[in-house]
Amino acid sequence: MDKFVIEGGRPLAGKIKISGSKNAALPILFASILLDGPIQLNNIPELCDIKTTLHLLDILGIKYNYENSGVILTVGTLNPEAPYELVRTMRASVLCLGPLLARIGRANVALPGGCAIGARPVDQHLKALEAMGASFDLEDGNIIGKCDKLHGAHIHFDMPTVGGTENIIMAAVLADGETILENAAREPEIVDLANFLVSCGAKIEGHGESVIRIQGVTALRGSRYSVMADRIEAGTFMVAAGITGGKLVLENCPLEKLGAVVAKLKAMGLKIGKTDEGTEVDATGNLSCVNVKTEPYPGFPTDMQAQIMALMCIADGEGEVEESIFENRFMHVQELIRMGAQIRIAGKKANVKGVRKLEGAPVMASDLRASASLVLAGLAARGESEVLRIYHLDRGYEHIENKLNAVGACIKRVKQ
Ligand code: EPZ
Repeated sequence: MDKFVIEGGRPLAGKIKISGSKNAALPILFASILLDGPIQLNNIPELCDIKTTLHLLDILGIKYNYENSGVILTVGTLNPEAPYELVRTMRASVLCLGPLLARIGRANVALPGGCAIGARPVDQHLKALEAMGASFDLEDGNIIGKCDKLHGAHIHFDMPTVGGTENIIMAAVLADGETILENAAREPEIVDLANFLVSCGAKIEGHGESVIRIQGVTALRGSRYSVMADRIEAGTFMVAAGITGGKLVLENCPLEKLGAVVAKLKAMGLKIGKTDEGTEVDATGNLSCVNVKTEPYPGFPTDMQAQIMALMCIADGEGEVEESIFENRFMHVQELIRMGAQIRIAGKKANVKGVRKLEGAPVMASDLRASASLVLAGLAARGESEVLRIYHLDRGYEHIENKLNAVGACIKRVKQ
């Protein structure tokens, strides 16, 4: 298991190119199950979760090959079995459920286990698919789904689930009749998935809003599509500028999809704005703590909670971070405290009191975004930090150490 050794205290300066979005690329890759004809996807990031997904698609009957920064996919004879050893490493594998049922009426997907940040059940996915005509058995931890032909339904989610919304959009585009999805999630990655499917001939309206209407069609063609930029990667690098007191220009930054994040970072004292070069983030002034509560989009994204908490650790004053989406997404707190941060957890809330300097220390990554927050803290800390188990990081950040070292960081990846 690799680790990062980070020499802190170096203000970052320069330009970073934002990669394609992991959380848009994953559902779009699974949507290829629905399509007749070759698919050319561009701006696909080089990440472990993408490789896992392509491996899973290969098992399901979809051949792929890399070309430039893109992937070409060809759908062959589909197999309904998604094996446990792959699904357990990536809960997004549950996104093959809707497409397989829509395409071949069968799906055998290992139940995704919980993960470090919470139980993350899929009850909303199953309830909605049952309303569309699917039936499910649970055998040895596998979800065995069957249906003759999915039909449209009027569905109301108990909460705006991103994966649930994506699964039902993919199930509905080939179903008989109209599906209305209420209390749908509004994340930009869902809009990207819907735009991709519309480019393949799907009939979808209202994506990005809370009510989505889908008219089923009989078949969908392949198409060429470029995946949106990764707003969470961009937000993470904005914090990297802030926590090192530096100045970065982010190329391909989806600024318009980061409204809640930019509002909070500006309130902390960062200067953020579009220039001809890209999005400039200037953090050479003082920083102050703010209060943050994570919410479904367009609220403050839970995937940026750990990162902004790291920034607050070295800002003036005190602030409260409330995690309202997942029940266990404070795994980074104990590790930040090892670096000298002053944080007190009370249920879903963490109270952060800024300190002048963090001290370098060995810390342990636990999940993707917690790992990012520990790297950010290491960039700011006095002396040397080690971030262990950075395989978590490799799931969602493309060559992060290369990108940061190119703008003045000193991060060494050490094989263990
Ligand atoms: C997606 O996960 C993202 N993953 C997550 O990003 C992100 O944190 C999350 O959405 C919230 O924005 C991908 O897009 C691949 P949810 P997902 O279904 O779809 C509960 C990252 O760091 N829920 O919106 O699994 C669930 O327990 C990852 O890139 C049910 O109760 O999230 C959670 O509390 C981490 N029943 C809440 O809803 C269900 O059937 C939100 O989950 C489904 C969800």
